[in-house]
This record gives sequence, C-alpha cells and structure tokens, in this order.
Amino acid sequence: MNPQPQILILDAGGQYCHLIARKIRDLGVYAEVRASETPASELCSARGIIISGGPSSVYDAGSPAVDHAIFARGPAVLGICYGQQLMAHLLGGDVRKGEKGEFGLATLELEAATDPLFAGLAGPQQVWMSHRDLVAGVPQGFSIVGRTDTCPVAAMADPARRLYAVQFHPEVVHTTRGKELLTNFVFRVCGCEKDWDARHRAPLIEQEIRECAGPRNVFFFVSGGVDSTVAFALCTRALGEDRVRGVYVDTGLMREGETDFVRRMPGISVECAQDQFLNALAGVTDPEQKRHIIGEEFVRVQERVIESRRLLDEHWILGQGTIYPDTIESGGTAKAAVIKTHHNRVAGIQKLIECGRIVEPLKSFYKDEVREIGRELALPAELLDRHPFPGPGLAIRCLCSDFDAVVRPTPEGWVIPVHSVGVQGDSRSYAPVLAINQLSHAHATELINRLSGVNRVISLVKGRAALEKMRVWACSLTPKRLARVRAADATVRRLSHETGFDHQVWQFPVVLIPIGTVESPDSVVLRPIHSVDGMTAQSVAMDPALLDRIAEELLAQEGVAAVFYDLTHKPPATIEWE
Ligand code: XMP
Repeated sequence: MNPQPQILILDAGGQYCHLIARKIRDLGVYAEVRASETPASELCSARGIIISGGPSSVYDAGSPAVDHAIFARGPAVLGICYGQQLMAHLLGGDVRKGEKGEFGLATLELEAATDPLFAGLAGPQQVWMSHRDLVAGVPQGFSIVGRTDTCPVAAMADPARRLYAVQFHPEVVHTTRGKELLTNFVFRVCGCEKDWDARHRAPLIEQEIRECAGPRNVFFFVSGGVDSTVAFALCTRALGEDRVRGVYVDTGLMREGETDFVRRMPGISVECAQDQFLNALAGVTDPEQKRHIIGEEFVRVQERVIESRRLLDEHWILGQGTIYPDTIESGGTAKAAVIKTHHNRVAGIQKLIECGRIVEPLKSFYKDEVREIGRELALPAELLDRHPFPGPGLAIRCLCSDFDAVVRPTPEGWVIPVHSVGVQGDSRSYAPVLAINQLSHAHATELINRLSGVNRVISLVKGRAALEKMRVWACSLTPKRLARVRAADATVRRLSHETGFDHQVWQFPVVLIPIGTVESPDSVVLRPIHSVDGMTAQSVAMDPALLDRIAEELLAQEGVAAVFYDLTHKPPATIEWE
C-alpha cells in the first residue's frame, strides 16, 4: 500500500504540476496530484499543499480556482507562479495583468528572512520565470521576501498562517536553489517525515498484485515499451510464469528488430497482423484517417485474441502498464490519457475495466520510478532506457501526400507543401513547413513566431540536389516507403547509440517526407528533442560530426534525396509530424 500523501499538489493546469510531485517524491516524501478545485475538507489530512503554476490569468473566466478554506485549514500552503497570483487574488492582494511577461532566467534578490521556508537561501540567485501577470501588492499579513528587476513580488510570506508563495519555479533545474527551497517547505515548514523510496518496492507491489488477482490469471497486451514490460514482469514475479500471458501485436509498423526484441521476452507471444494493417492503410494519405484506421484494426486484433484465447472468462483479469500521469485527467496530462485510450477501446476490455477485473501495478508511479523498479527487477538497461515510441508506429512517421507540388521560394526560405501538425493550446492544425539553410535554433524560433501559415522550421543538412530542384510527390503508405523510414530510423538509432547521443535526448523521431527527385523521391527529417513528459519539448542541437555522419549514411540509402533537421520547439510544433 502507498502511504497517505503528506503533500498534495493542486493542479492549476501547469505543465510543471507533475514535475513538482516528482521533485517532492525525490526528497523521500510521498506526494500526489489533485484537481485544483478539490474541497478543502479532502485536503486537510495532508501536511502541506502546493498550488501549481498554470497558463491562465486569475481574471480569465473559468480559470482554475482553489477552495478558499485551504488557507485556514491547517496544512501549510505554497503557491507557485499562477499559484502565487491565485493566493494573492483570493486573499485580497493586487494582481496586475502583465503585458510582456517574463520568460526564462532571472536574478532573484532574496531577503535574509528568519522564516523556515527561506532558511539559508538569502542573497542573489538564479531563478526560472514563466509568467505574464504578476503580484503588485501583497495581501494583508504577508511581507515581500524576494524581488527581481521586473517582478516586485517574486516571493511573499505570511509565516503566522504558514502561507507562502513564489513567482518563479523552484521545481525546474534552472532555479539553482529550488531544491533547497522545496526541501525547506517539506521538512521545515510542513514537518514531513521520509516515507517514500521508489527503490525496493517490488515485493510490496507483488503482494498487491497477488491480493488483486486472487486465484485468477492475468493477461496483457504489451507494446515492448517500458511501462507495459515492467508491469508484466512484476505480475510474472508475483504469480509465476504460468499465470501471466502477454500478447504483442505485430502491426507491420514497428521499428527494425522490435518484434524479435519482444519475442525474446519470456511469456510473450506475437500476434502477426502485418497484412491486416497494411491492407487497411493502402492508398490512405490523410493523417487523421491513418490514425483512425490503425486504432480500428487494433481493436479487431484484440477482439480476435481475446475470443480465441477465451480471456474473458472468470479465470482471467486484464493487466495494464498505466502509470501515474495517465490516471490524472486534467491540466498537462489530459493528452496522455487520450493517447492511451485507443488501445483500450475493445468492448470486452472496457467491460473488464468497468467491473474492476484489472490490475495496474504501476498506477501510482512516475516514469523515472518505473525505471527504478525495472532496475530492481534486473531488467536490462537496453529496455529501461528506451525512448517512448507511439502506438501507431512508423505509420505516423511516414508522411503522405495526395498531390504533386513544387517548393515555393520566399525571402525567409522555401515553403514545402508537406503538412505537419502544430499545436497551440489544445488545438492542432496542419500546415506546410519552412526550410532554411542555417542550422540555428534562435533563427528558427524568430521565424516561427513571426510567420503565419507554417507549423515548423527545418534546416537542410545535406541533399543530393538543390532544394528548388526537388518536388513533393503524391504518395501513400507503401511497404517500400515503410521500409525506407524503418531503415533510416535504424541507422539513426545505431549512430546515436554508438556516440551516446541517445542519452542526451528524451526522444528522437526520424520522419520520412515525400520531397525529393525522380530517382530519390523521399527525404528524412531528424527530430531529436528534450522533454519532461512529452507535453512540451525543445529541439536539441547535435554535435556537427555526428550529424555529418548520420546525413552521409542516410543519403547513401535507397530513395533518400535530402536530410533535414527540425528546429521547432513544442509548442508550436508537436513532437511527431502527424
Ligand atoms: P506529440 O506529437 O503530440 O507527441 O507532441 C507527444 C508524445 O506522445 C507520443 N505520441 C503517441 N503515443 N500513441 C502513443 O502511444 C499515439 O497515438 C501517439 N501520438 C503521439 C509521441 O511520440 C510523444 O512522445
């Protein structure tokens, strides 16, 4: 059993909400996330409450609120960013609408306060800011403890009521003393005791699995990813190999070597469905339709497996690799929940879930903790350090076009009419790409902010022909093109692994786009990114020597006319191109 959470994080919609919970757990204290509007009566058993940041303004209609009573219920409260503005607003302070805002590094001047939250932290220090509105006047009872050049109230405190707030983000690494501040809050202000360590948890989880399963067996649909594999391994250890079955669906859209990799895992059988998927996708070019078809075919295969193996009778329950962020349907994690659902839509599976015939051994853990548990189980690092890979596989990394077209020169670069996804807030759009010659993130960011009508900026690394000589070709998802993107992905993975670059990135999609020459009709886009949870991402620069090697090897490949580098952060471009 997990301990009762000592710290509760109220999710005000910020991308960093889960990061706060993870940082608190890293300090050895169990923390969970709750919806911001949770009634105070359900929060008062905690020792401390943290209100997260978020993109809203307290003046927006429907912006996240908290129950006012939390400020008088007992637990200490720390507001971060939007959390500070909300606290000030609700307690009678003055919150000003910001025009320009402050994004990035700033120098905080922290006063020598006697208060435990700021103990040992006085003086100038680097903090990370990301806000538009700001607190201009503190509520009664509060004093200003810290400022930056542009932010008159960067930290405020009312020690008598144990209410604190900061405008900067102590949870991100760029706030150099953020960890100390969180440590002070958790131990000095809230008086928490250490009760959490993601290591050495396997025996406890296994006990829970045995209790949940009782005499029944467990079956999984495994993806070969970290979460489902660790969950599967835990169940196998808890119940024995004979009582746990895993089925992996080979859609024909997998990376090179993937099916063999999974085949080597004990207890997992492979359901071959390549023809089924490829036939259903033949001639289809529209990205949303591709995703839809893949989802539908998945459901068909799952139904077939469940029926033929009689997995719905009373002897079986469903195992799933759900992790903590997937269980919270709010703020920065809403998408993760949506993404996972397409694998779970089978009516039979839905029924199992509804009547509780399901075991999710990892549902209170974060990815890093899951990896820690995997290490405890002695699973190979090769598996635990894998990058995330999307369920629809290479299909969404092999772009199609239903028209031939030329590239269009503009003063800023060439507009390539290959449509890729952009994301602003919750809305996704498809728009062309701008190709430039410079490999400069700063330049790309300036362009994407200035120009309308394009979703990404990519740089031409190397090509067999000048860009203006290339065309976009009408094409769909053929076995030949899939083989092309699979080979390109394998090359990039091999070289990134050999040089250790794979450890410097969170994910590294390799995308095939239909632009090239008659002899070599496609090009490859490299998309190495850094991210915390996939919700936002930064395009990562690469050592020029490695880039050169990758480009050389890719250009030597059949059908590849050019190699590009995607310089766009998320937002405004998604990580995947479709
Ligand atoms: P985007 O492209 O939305 O991706 O920035 C964010 C993260 O989600 C992954 N992704 C998926 N994962 N099924 C999955 O299991 C999907 O349909 C899917 N689409 C995107 C993507 O690889 C990235 O890590």
